[in-house]
Amino acid sequence: MIYPIVAYGNPILKKEAAEIHEGADLKTLIQDMFATMDHASGVGLAAPQINQAVRLFVIDSNLMLDEQDEEKGVRRAFINPIILDEYGDDYGFEEGCLSIPDVRAEIIRPEKLTIEYYDENWNLKEEEFSGMTARVIQHEYDHLEGILFVDYLKGLKKRLVQSKLIEVSKGKVHTDYRMIYPLK
Ligand code: NI
Repeated sequence: MIYPIVAYGNPILKKEAAEIHEGADLKTLIQDMFATMDHASGVGLAAPQINQAVRLFVIDSNLMLDEQDEEKGVRRAFINPIILDEYGDDYGFEEGCLSIPDVRAEIIRPEKLTIEYYDENWNLKEEEFSGMTARVIQHEYDHLEGILFVDYLKGLKKRLVQSKLIEVSKGKVHTDYRMIYPLK
C-alpha cells in the first residue's frame, strides 16, 4: 500500500515520535513505507510523514550515489534508533524533503555518525555511517524528533522560504505522489 505523504504544516511533523514496543509486527508497515518512498522517488521516509508518530524510518541512499562513487548506498529500516555520536567535519549539503516539495536548502551537519537501532527483524545493531547515508539518516532521525530541515534556516534564508512553506501547506504545489495538506 502506498500512503499519502503529510505536507508541511501538519502538527504531526513537529511532534516527538513515540518509541515502538519491542517485538511489534512492523513487516507490513515497513514494506509499505519502502513502497511509498520508492513511489515518490525519495531517499528516506519517516513514519510521521505517513501520519504515524512512531520511531521508525526507512532509507535508500543508492539514489544519491552513482557507480563512480566509492560509497555504497544503504537500503534499510531503522526502528527505535538512537544517534550515539556525530563526528567528522561539518559540511553543507542541499537537502529536500518529501513533505516540503520544491524547497531545498543547504544544511550543515557532521559527516559521520554512530547509531544504535533495531533492524526489521528486531536485531539490535550499532553501526557507523558516513557520507550520503549518514546525511539521510540525520535528516530522517530529525523527523522523529519533530525537526524539519527548514527549522535550521535563520534570518534571510528563513524569510525566503516562508511564503513557499505556506503554499505547501495550502496544497499549492505539484507532486507526482499523493499528499495530505493541513490548510486545504
Ligand atoms: Ni524529510
